[in-house]
Amino acid sequence: MELTAVILAAGEAKRMRSRQPKVLHPLCGRPLIAYALRTARAVADRTVVVIGPNAAAVRAAADAGVTFVEQRERLGTGHALEQARAACGDGPVVVLAGDMPLLSSETLERLVSHHRTTSAAATVLTAVVDRPQGYGRILRQGGRVKRIVEDRDATDDQKKITEINTSVYCFEARRLWKALAEVRPDNEQGEYYLTDVIGILAKAGGRIEAVVAGDPAEALGINDRKQLAAVAAILRRRILDRLMTDGVTIVDPASTYIEDTVTIGPDSVVYPQVVIEGVTTFGAECVVGSGSQISASRLGDRVHLRPYCVLTEATVEDGAQLGPFCHLRPLCHVGPGAKVGNFVEMKKSRIGRGSKVPHLSYVGDATVGEGVNIGAGTITCNYDGVAKHETRIGDHAFVGTNSSLVAPLTIGEGAYIGAGSTITKDVPPGALAVGRGHQVVKEGWAARKAKKHTGPED
Ligand code: UD1
Ligand code: CA
Repeated sequence: MELTAVILAAGEAKRMRSRQPKVLHPLCGRPLIAYALRTARAVADRTVVVIGPNAAAVRAAADAGVTFVEQRERLGTGHALEQARAACGDGPVVVLAGDMPLLSSETLERLVSHHRTTSAAATVLTAVVDRPQGYGRILRQGGRVKRIVEDRDATDDQKKITEINTSVYCFEARRLWKALAEVRPDNEQGEYYLTDVIGILAKAGGRIEAVVAGDPAEALGINDRKQLAAVAAILRRRILDRLMTDGVTIVDPASTYIEDTVTIGPDSVVYPQVVIEGVTTFGAECVVGSGSQISASRLGDRVHLRPYCVLTEATVEDGAQLGPFCHLRPLCHVGPGAKVGNFVEMKKSRIGRGSKVPHLSYVGDATVGEGVNIGAGTITCNYDGVAKHETRIGDHAFVGTNSSLVAPLTIGEGAYIGAGSTITKDVPPGALAVGRGHQVVKEGWAARKAKKHTGPED
Protein backbone atom coordinates (compact mmCIF):
# COMPACT_ATOMS: atom_id res chain seq x y z
CA MET A 1 0.00 0.00 0.00
CA GLU A 2 1.11 3.50 -0.79
CA LEU A 3 3.08 5.25 1.92
CA THR A 4 2.38 8.92 2.67
CA ALA A 5 4.84 11.11 4.57
CA VAL A 6 3.48 14.16 6.36
CA ILE A 7 5.93 16.85 7.42
CA LEU A 8 4.63 19.16 10.15
CA ALA A 9 6.00 22.62 9.52
CA ALA A 10 3.28 25.07 10.48
CA GLY A 11 4.37 25.89 14.01
CA GLU A 12 4.83 29.49 15.02
CA ALA A 13 8.34 28.80 16.25
CA LYS A 14 8.09 31.35 19.04
CA ARG A 15 11.39 30.16 20.48
CA MET A 16 13.28 31.24 17.35
CA ARG A 17 12.14 34.85 17.86
CA SER A 18 12.18 35.36 14.12
CA ARG A 19 9.96 36.96 11.52
CA GLN A 20 10.95 34.20 9.16
CA PRO A 21 9.30 30.74 9.30
CA LYS A 22 11.57 28.39 11.24
CA VAL A 23 11.84 25.88 8.42
CA LEU A 24 13.35 28.53 6.13
CA HIS A 25 16.27 29.28 8.41
CA PRO A 26 19.42 28.21 6.56
CA LEU A 27 21.39 25.25 7.79
CA CYS A 28 24.64 24.44 6.01
CA GLY A 29 23.43 25.92 2.74
CA ARG A 30 19.85 24.68 2.61
CA PRO A 31 16.64 25.79 4.29
CA LEU A 32 15.76 23.52 7.22
CA ILE A 33 12.73 22.11 5.41
CA ALA A 34 14.94 20.76 2.60
CA TYR A 35 16.37 18.09 4.92
CA ALA A 36 13.00 16.77 6.02
CA LEU A 37 11.81 16.79 2.40
CA ARG A 38 14.83 14.85 1.22
CA THR A 39 14.41 12.23 3.95
CA ALA A 40 10.65 11.91 3.41
CA ARG A 41 10.88 11.63 -0.35
CA ALA A 42 13.51 8.92 -0.14
CA VAL A 43 11.04 6.73 1.72
CA ALA A 44 7.46 7.73 0.85
CA ASP A 45 5.37 7.52 -2.32
CA ARG A 46 3.68 10.81 -1.53
CA THR A 47 4.81 13.78 0.57
CA VAL A 48 2.48 16.28 2.24
CA VAL A 49 3.74 19.36 4.07
CA VAL A 50 1.57 21.17 6.62
CA ILE A 51 2.42 24.88 6.55
CA GLY A 52 1.13 27.95 8.30
CA PRO A 53 -0.67 30.87 6.70
CA ASN A 54 1.49 33.29 4.68
CA ALA A 55 4.05 30.61 3.98
CA ALA A 56 4.44 31.16 0.23
CA ALA A 57 8.19 31.17 0.71
CA VAL A 58 8.02 27.69 2.24
CA ARG A 59 6.11 26.43 -0.80
CA ALA A 60 8.73 27.98 -3.03
CA ALA A 61 11.52 26.16 -1.18
CA ALA A 62 10.15 22.73 -2.13
CA ASP A 63 10.36 21.10 -5.52
CA ALA A 64 7.50 19.78 -7.59
CA GLY A 65 5.58 16.74 -6.46
CA VAL A 66 4.98 17.91 -2.91
CA THR A 67 1.45 18.60 -1.68
CA PHE A 68 0.92 21.53 0.69
CA VAL A 69 -1.91 21.92 3.14
CA GLU A 70 -2.48 24.92 5.32
CA GLN A 71 -3.06 24.96 9.04
CA ARG A 72 -4.71 28.34 9.57
CA GLU A 73 -4.77 28.29 13.35
CA ARG A 74 -1.87 26.75 15.21
CA LEU A 75 -3.71 24.48 17.59
CA GLY A 76 -0.98 21.88 18.06
CA THR A 77 0.72 18.97 16.33
CA GLY A 78 -2.41 16.78 16.38
CA HIS A 79 -4.47 19.52 14.78
CA ALA A 80 -1.70 20.05 12.21
CA LEU A 81 -1.77 16.40 11.16
CA GLU A 82 -5.58 16.49 10.94
CA GLN A 83 -5.25 19.10 8.18
CA ALA A 84 -3.38 16.58 6.04
CA ARG A 85 -6.03 13.90 6.29
CA ALA A 86 -7.63 14.49 2.87
CA ALA A 87 -4.23 14.48 1.20
CA CYS A 88 -3.26 11.07 2.64
CA GLY A 89 -4.08 7.68 1.19
CA ASP A 90 -5.28 4.52 2.91
CA GLY A 91 -1.74 3.22 3.31
CA PRO A 92 0.55 3.86 6.27
CA VAL A 93 1.18 7.48 7.27
CA VAL A 94 4.65 8.49 8.34
CA VAL A 95 4.83 11.73 10.30
CA LEU A 96 7.93 13.78 10.83
CA ALA A 97 8.63 17.30 11.99
CA GLY A 98 10.16 19.90 9.73
CA ASP A 99 12.68 20.86 12.40
CA MET A 100 14.81 17.72 12.75
CA PRO A 101 17.29 17.75 9.88
CA LEU A 102 19.61 15.02 11.16
CA LEU A 103 17.04 12.26 10.72
CA SER A 104 18.34 9.84 8.10
CA SER A 105 16.30 8.06 5.46
CA GLU A 106 17.83 4.75 6.67
CA THR A 107 16.30 5.29 10.11
CA LEU A 108 12.95 6.26 8.61
CA GLU A 109 13.10 3.18 6.40
CA ARG A 110 13.79 1.02 9.46
CA LEU A 111 10.79 2.56 11.26
CA VAL A 112 8.47 1.86 8.33
CA SER A 113 9.60 -1.70 7.80
CA HIS A 114 9.31 -2.47 11.53
CA HIS A 115 5.80 -1.01 11.46
CA ARG A 116 4.84 -3.15 8.47
CA THR A 117 6.24 -6.41 9.80
CA THR A 118 4.60 -6.01 13.22
CA SER A 119 1.26 -4.76 11.84
CA ALA A 120 1.28 -2.18 14.62
CA ALA A 121 -1.35 0.51 15.06
CA ALA A 122 1.50 2.95 15.54
CA THR A 123 5.29 2.81 15.66
CA VAL A 124 7.20 5.62 17.35
CA LEU A 125 10.82 6.51 16.74
CA THR A 126 12.36 7.10 20.15
CA ALA A 127 15.85 7.98 21.31
CA VAL A 128 17.70 7.61 24.57
CA VAL A 129 19.41 10.90 25.36
CA ASP A 130 21.51 12.37 28.16
CA ARG A 131 19.47 15.55 28.40
CA PRO A 132 15.79 14.82 27.79
CA GLN A 133 14.59 18.28 28.92
CA GLY A 134 12.00 19.75 26.56
CA TYR A 135 11.13 16.47 24.84
CA GLY A 136 8.08 14.28 25.32
CA ARG A 137 8.90 11.18 27.43
CA ILE A 138 8.00 7.62 26.50
CA LEU A 139 6.01 5.89 29.23
CA ARG A 140 6.26 2.11 29.08
CA GLN A 141 4.48 -0.59 31.04
CA GLY A 142 5.95 -4.08 31.05
CA GLY A 143 8.24 -2.93 28.26
CA ARG A 144 5.41 -1.78 25.98
CA VAL A 145 4.77 1.84 25.07
CA LYS A 146 1.63 3.08 26.83
CA ARG A 147 1.68 6.79 26.22
CA ILE A 148 3.77 9.92 25.75
CA VAL A 149 3.86 12.75 28.24
CA GLU A 150 5.07 16.20 27.26
CA ASP A 151 7.88 17.73 29.30
CA ARG A 152 5.69 20.53 30.63
CA ASP A 153 2.98 18.08 31.69
CA ALA A 154 5.36 15.51 33.22
CA THR A 155 5.76 14.75 36.90
CA ASP A 156 9.22 14.95 38.46
CA ASP A 157 9.55 11.17 38.21
CA GLN A 158 8.48 11.14 34.55
CA LYS A 159 11.02 13.88 33.83
CA LYS A 160 13.77 11.44 34.83
CA ILE A 161 12.91 9.18 31.89
CA THR A 162 15.63 9.45 29.23
CA GLU A 163 13.74 7.74 26.39
CA ILE A 164 12.18 10.56 24.39
CA ASN A 165 9.69 10.97 21.56
CA THR A 166 11.48 12.10 18.39
CA SER A 167 8.22 13.26 16.78
CA VAL A 168 8.62 10.66 14.04
CA TYR A 169 5.88 8.06 13.77
CA CYS A 170 4.35 5.55 11.42
CA PHE A 171 0.59 5.03 11.73
CA GLU A 172 -1.99 2.67 10.33
CA ALA A 173 -4.21 5.24 8.58
CA ARG A 174 -7.69 4.15 9.63
CA ARG A 175 -6.90 3.89 13.32
CA LEU A 176 -4.86 7.12 13.24
CA TRP A 177 -7.71 9.31 12.02
CA LYS A 178 -10.15 7.69 14.44
CA ALA A 179 -7.85 8.30 17.42
CA LEU A 180 -6.95 11.81 16.30
CA ALA A 181 -10.62 12.77 16.45
CA GLU A 182 -10.59 11.81 20.13
CA VAL A 183 -7.66 14.07 21.11
CA ARG A 184 -8.63 16.86 23.53
CA PRO A 185 -6.61 19.99 24.32
CA ASP A 186 -6.50 19.21 28.06
CA ASN A 187 -2.87 20.04 28.71
CA GLU A 188 -0.71 22.87 29.92
CA GLN A 189 -0.61 24.51 26.47
CA GLY A 190 -4.27 23.92 25.60
CA GLU A 191 -3.20 22.31 22.31
CA TYR A 192 -4.23 19.21 20.38
CA TYR A 193 -1.18 17.01 20.90
CA LEU A 194 -0.39 14.35 18.34
CA THR A 195 1.43 12.55 21.12
CA ASP A 196 -1.93 11.79 22.78
CA VAL A 197 -2.84 9.53 19.86
CA ILE A 198 -0.35 6.97 21.18
CA GLY A 199 -2.12 6.75 24.54
CA ILE A 200 -5.55 6.60 22.89
CA LEU A 201 -4.50 3.77 20.56
CA ALA A 202 -2.84 1.82 23.39
CA LYS A 203 -5.92 2.14 25.59
CA ALA A 204 -8.08 0.82 22.76
CA GLY A 205 -5.86 -2.27 22.68
CA GLY A 206 -3.81 -1.23 19.64
CA ARG A 207 -0.28 -2.46 19.33
CA ILE A 208 2.27 0.31 19.82
CA GLU A 209 5.80 -0.39 18.68
CA ALA A 210 8.92 1.63 19.30
CA VAL A 211 12.09 1.78 17.25
CA VAL A 212 15.05 3.33 19.07
CA ALA A 213 17.27 5.56 16.95
CA GLY A 214 20.82 4.22 16.83
CA ASP A 215 22.29 7.70 16.88
CA PRO A 216 20.48 9.99 19.34
CA ALA A 217 21.68 13.00 17.30
CA GLU A 218 19.04 12.08 14.75
CA ALA A 219 16.40 13.10 17.26
CA LEU A 220 17.72 16.62 17.75
CA GLY A 221 14.98 19.11 17.05
CA ILE A 222 15.61 22.77 16.38
CA ASN A 223 13.39 24.99 18.51
CA ASP A 224 15.75 27.91 19.11
CA ARG A 225 18.90 29.39 17.66
CA LYS A 226 21.18 27.64 20.13
CA GLN A 227 19.87 24.30 18.89
CA LEU A 228 20.27 25.54 15.31
CA ALA A 229 23.97 26.14 15.96
CA ALA A 230 24.37 22.81 17.77
CA VAL A 231 22.80 20.88 14.89
CA ALA A 232 24.85 22.85 12.36
CA ALA A 233 28.03 21.80 14.14
CA ILE A 234 27.06 18.12 13.84
CA LEU A 235 25.95 18.46 10.24
CA ARG A 236 29.12 20.30 9.30
CA ARG A 237 31.21 17.50 10.68
CA ARG A 238 29.15 14.96 8.70
CA ILE A 239 29.71 16.94 5.49
CA LEU A 240 33.47 16.99 6.13
CA ASP A 241 33.45 13.26 6.92
CA ARG A 242 31.68 12.59 3.62
CA LEU A 243 34.27 14.65 1.73
CA MET A 244 37.17 12.93 3.51
CA THR A 245 35.66 9.52 2.74
CA ASP A 246 35.51 10.60 -0.90
CA GLY A 247 39.23 11.41 -0.94
CA VAL A 248 39.49 15.07 0.03
CA THR A 249 42.11 16.11 2.61
CA ILE A 250 40.67 18.50 5.19
CA VAL A 251 43.70 19.74 7.10
CA ASP A 252 41.72 21.08 10.08
CA PRO A 253 38.07 19.99 10.24
CA ALA A 254 37.53 22.17 13.32
CA SER A 255 38.03 25.38 11.36
CA THR A 256 36.59 24.38 7.97
CA TYR A 257 33.05 25.38 7.02
CA ILE A 258 31.67 23.60 3.98
CA GLU A 259 27.98 23.60 3.12
CA ASP A 260 25.89 20.61 2.13
CA THR A 261 25.62 21.96 -1.42
CA VAL A 262 29.36 21.67 -2.15
CA THR A 263 31.17 18.92 -4.05
CA ILE A 264 34.96 18.55 -4.17
CA GLY A 265 36.92 16.11 -6.32
CA PRO A 266 39.41 13.58 -4.94
CA ASP A 267 42.96 14.44 -3.95
CA SER A 268 42.03 18.02 -3.30
CA VAL A 269 43.40 19.67 -0.15
CA VAL A 270 41.51 22.21 1.94
CA TYR A 271 43.65 24.24 4.34
CA PRO A 272 42.39 25.68 7.67
CA GLN A 273 39.90 28.51 8.01
CA VAL A 274 38.18 28.02 4.71
CA VAL A 275 34.50 28.67 3.97
CA ILE A 276 32.93 27.05 0.90
CA GLU A 277 29.25 27.74 0.40
CA GLY A 278 26.33 27.67 -2.01
CA VAL A 279 26.25 25.38 -5.02
CA THR A 280 30.00 25.14 -5.51
CA THR A 281 31.92 22.38 -7.27
CA PHE A 282 35.64 21.72 -7.33
CA GLY A 283 37.26 19.20 -9.66
CA ALA A 284 40.04 16.83 -8.61
CA GLU A 285 43.45 17.75 -7.19
CA CYS A 286 42.55 21.31 -6.24
CA VAL A 287 44.16 23.25 -3.40
CA VAL A 288 42.18 25.72 -1.32
CA GLY A 289 44.49 27.97 0.68
CA SER A 290 43.83 29.20 4.22
CA GLY A 291 41.38 31.99 4.76
CA SER A 292 39.62 31.59 1.42
CA GLN A 293 35.88 32.01 0.99
CA ILE A 294 34.24 30.54 -2.11
CA SER A 295 30.54 30.95 -2.88
CA ALA A 296 28.39 29.59 -5.71
CA SER A 297 31.35 28.89 -7.97
CA ARG A 298 32.51 26.20 -10.38
CA LEU A 299 36.16 25.22 -10.39
CA GLY A 300 37.85 22.67 -12.63
CA ASP A 301 40.64 20.20 -11.90
CA ARG A 302 44.00 21.21 -10.41
CA VAL A 303 42.88 24.73 -9.58
CA HIS A 304 45.20 26.23 -7.00
CA LEU A 305 43.83 28.90 -4.69
CA ARG A 306 46.64 30.37 -2.64
CA PRO A 307 45.61 31.77 0.77
CA TYR A 308 42.91 34.41 1.14
CA CYS A 309 41.00 34.20 -2.12
CA VAL A 310 37.40 35.44 -2.13
CA LEU A 311 35.30 34.13 -5.03
CA THR A 312 31.60 34.65 -5.71
CA GLU A 313 29.80 33.14 -8.71
CA ALA A 314 33.07 32.47 -10.48
CA THR A 315 34.03 29.89 -13.08
CA VAL A 316 37.66 28.84 -12.92
CA GLU A 317 38.99 26.35 -15.42
CA ASP A 318 41.53 23.55 -15.09
CA GLY A 319 44.98 24.40 -13.80
CA ALA A 320 44.32 28.06 -13.07
CA GLN A 321 46.15 29.71 -10.17
CA LEU A 322 44.64 32.38 -7.97
CA GLY A 323 45.86 34.52 -5.10
CA PRO A 324 47.11 35.05 -2.56
CA PHE A 325 44.61 37.80 -1.76
CA CYS A 326 42.52 37.94 -4.90
CA HIS A 327 38.87 38.88 -5.15
CA LEU A 328 36.64 37.60 -7.92
CA ARG A 329 33.33 39.42 -7.70
CA PRO A 330 30.33 37.88 -9.48
CA LEU A 331 30.47 36.58 -13.04
CA CYS A 332 34.16 36.13 -13.64
CA HIS A 333 35.54 33.41 -15.88
CA VAL A 334 39.18 32.43 -15.55
CA GLY A 335 40.42 30.28 -18.43
CA PRO A 336 42.55 27.14 -18.21
CA GLY A 337 46.05 27.68 -16.84
CA ALA A 338 45.42 31.38 -16.31
CA LYS A 339 46.82 33.26 -13.36
CA VAL A 340 45.17 35.89 -11.19
CA GLY A 341 47.67 36.99 -8.59
CA ASN A 342 48.15 39.09 -5.48
CA PHE A 343 45.73 41.90 -4.73
CA VAL A 344 43.80 41.59 -7.97
CA GLU A 345 40.11 42.42 -8.04
CA MET A 346 38.01 41.22 -10.96
CA LYS A 347 34.35 41.80 -11.75
CA LYS A 348 32.22 40.46 -14.63
CA SER A 349 35.27 39.68 -16.71
CA ARG A 350 36.74 36.81 -18.67
CA ILE A 351 40.40 36.07 -19.00
CA GLY A 352 41.45 33.49 -21.55
CA ARG A 353 43.67 30.45 -21.52
CA GLY A 354 47.12 31.05 -20.03
CA SER A 355 46.60 34.79 -19.52
CA LYS A 356 48.12 36.46 -16.48
CA VAL A 357 47.09 39.27 -14.20
CA PRO A 358 49.76 38.70 -11.61
CA HIS A 359 49.66 41.73 -9.30
CA LEU A 360 47.70 44.71 -8.00
CA SER A 361 45.09 45.19 -10.73
CA TYR A 362 41.41 45.94 -11.19
CA VAL A 363 39.80 44.19 -14.13
CA GLY A 364 36.10 45.01 -14.54
CA ASP A 365 33.72 44.47 -17.47
CA ALA A 366 36.62 43.16 -19.53
CA THR A 367 37.11 40.37 -22.03
CA VAL A 368 40.72 39.33 -22.17
CA GLY A 369 41.93 36.83 -24.79
CA GLU A 370 44.49 34.05 -24.52
CA GLY A 371 48.14 34.43 -23.58
CA VAL A 372 47.73 38.03 -22.51
CA ASN A 373 50.00 39.62 -19.89
CA ILE A 374 48.55 42.41 -17.81
CA GLY A 375 51.28 44.21 -15.89
CA ALA A 376 51.18 45.16 -12.23
CA GLY A 377 48.95 48.05 -11.30
CA THR A 378 46.84 48.00 -14.46
CA ILE A 379 43.32 49.36 -14.06
CA THR A 380 40.38 49.07 -16.41
CA CYS A 381 38.62 52.42 -15.98
CA ASN A 382 35.17 51.00 -16.61
CA TYR A 383 33.02 53.67 -14.99
CA ASP A 384 32.60 57.24 -16.14
CA GLY A 385 30.40 58.22 -13.23
CA VAL A 386 27.23 57.39 -15.11
CA ALA A 387 27.60 54.09 -16.97
CA LYS A 388 29.86 51.06 -17.08
CA HIS A 389 31.88 50.41 -20.25
CA GLU A 390 33.69 47.40 -21.64
CA THR A 391 37.33 46.71 -22.35
CA ARG A 392 38.44 44.09 -24.92
CA ILE A 393 41.97 42.86 -25.07
CA GLY A 394 43.00 40.55 -27.94
CA ASP A 395 45.08 37.38 -27.71
CA HIS A 396 48.77 37.75 -26.83
CA ALA A 397 48.54 41.46 -26.11
CA PHE A 398 50.98 42.88 -23.56
CA VAL A 399 49.84 45.62 -21.21
CA GLY A 400 52.73 47.38 -19.46
CA THR A 401 52.59 48.04 -15.74
CA ASN A 402 50.53 50.79 -14.22
CA SER A 403 48.39 51.41 -17.28
CA SER A 404 44.94 52.97 -17.12
CA LEU A 405 42.72 51.52 -19.81
CA VAL A 406 39.83 53.95 -20.24
CA ALA A 407 36.75 52.07 -21.47
CA PRO A 408 35.09 51.62 -23.88
CA LEU A 409 38.31 50.38 -25.37
CA THR A 410 39.61 47.66 -27.67
CA ILE A 411 43.23 46.59 -27.72
CA GLY A 412 44.01 44.42 -30.74
CA GLU A 413 45.73 41.05 -30.89
CA GLY A 414 49.43 41.13 -30.14
CA ALA A 415 49.43 44.87 -29.36
CA TYR A 416 51.73 46.41 -26.77
CA ILE A 417 50.90 49.11 -24.26
CA GLY A 418 53.85 51.02 -22.84
CA ALA A 419 54.15 51.03 -19.05
CA GLY A 420 52.44 53.90 -17.26
CA SER A 421 50.12 54.70 -20.17
CA THR A 422 46.64 56.16 -20.00
CA ILE A 423 44.97 54.64 -23.06
CA THR A 424 41.81 56.33 -24.26
CA LYS A 425 41.70 55.27 -27.92
CA ASP A 426 41.50 51.82 -29.51
CA VAL A 427 44.83 50.18 -30.28
CA PRO A 428 45.08 48.18 -33.53
CA PRO A 429 46.48 44.64 -33.60
CA GLY A 430 50.25 44.47 -33.44
CA ALA A 431 50.68 48.18 -32.61
CA LEU A 432 52.55 49.81 -29.75
CA ALA A 433 50.63 52.47 -27.86
CA VAL A 434 52.29 54.77 -25.39
CA GLY A 435 50.17 57.34 -23.64
CA ARG A 436 52.28 59.19 -21.10
CA GLY A 437 54.35 62.38 -20.76
CA HIS A 438 57.74 62.38 -22.48
CA GLN A 439 60.69 62.00 -20.18
CA VAL A 440 62.91 65.08 -19.99
CA VAL A 441 66.58 64.75 -18.92
CA LYS A 442 68.59 67.83 -17.89
CA GLU A 443 72.27 66.93 -17.57
CA GLY A 444 74.18 68.55 -14.69
CA TRP A 445 71.02 70.08 -13.25
CA ALA A 446 71.71 69.13 -9.64
CA ALA A 447 75.04 70.86 -9.55
CA ARG A 448 73.58 74.06 -11.09
CA LYS A 449 70.85 74.05 -8.45
CA ALA A 450 73.35 73.68 -5.63
CA LYS A 451 75.45 76.60 -6.93
CA LYS A 452 72.43 78.90 -7.17
CA HIS A 453 71.63 78.37 -3.50
CA THR A 454 75.13 78.82 -2.14
CA GLY A 455 75.82 82.59 -2.59
CA PRO A 456 79.15 84.34 -1.52
CA GLU A 457 77.60 85.84 1.68
CA ASP A 458 77.21 82.27 3.12
C1 UD1 B 1 7.24 17.80 19.79
C2 UD1 B 1 6.52 16.64 20.50
C3 UD1 B 1 7.45 16.07 21.58
C4 UD1 B 1 8.74 15.63 20.95
C5 UD1 B 1 9.38 16.75 20.17
C6 UD1 B 1 10.58 16.24 19.37
C7 UD1 B 1 4.11 17.18 20.51
C8 UD1 B 1 2.99 17.69 21.32
N1 UD1 B 1 5.30 17.13 21.13
O1 UD1 B 1 7.48 18.82 20.75
O2 UD1 B 1 6.83 14.95 22.21
O3 UD1 B 1 9.64 15.16 21.95
O4 UD1 B 1 8.45 17.32 19.22
O5 UD1 B 1 11.27 17.28 18.75
O6 UD1 B 1 3.92 16.78 19.39
N2 UD1 B 1 3.61 22.24 14.32
C9 UD1 B 1 2.59 22.54 13.45
N3 UD1 B 1 1.45 23.09 13.92
C10 UD1 B 1 1.24 23.36 15.24
C11 UD1 B 1 2.29 23.05 16.14
C12 UD1 B 1 3.45 22.48 15.66
O7 UD1 B 1 2.73 22.33 12.25
O8 UD1 B 1 0.17 23.86 15.58
C13 UD1 B 1 4.85 21.66 13.80
C14 UD1 B 1 6.06 22.51 14.07
O9 UD1 B 1 6.29 23.40 12.98
C15 UD1 B 1 7.20 21.50 14.22
C16 UD1 B 1 6.49 20.26 14.72
O10 UD1 B 1 5.11 20.43 14.46
O11 UD1 B 1 7.83 21.21 13.00
C17 UD1 B 1 6.72 20.04 16.21
O12 UD1 B 1 6.24 21.18 16.91
P1 UD1 B 1 7.08 21.82 18.08
O13 UD1 B 1 6.34 22.97 18.62
O14 UD1 B 1 8.48 22.02 17.67
O15 UD1 B 1 6.98 20.65 19.16
P2 UD1 B 1 7.96 20.31 20.33
O16 UD1 B 1 7.66 21.19 21.49
O17 UD1 B 1 9.33 20.27 19.85
CA1 CA C 1 10.38 20.79 17.89
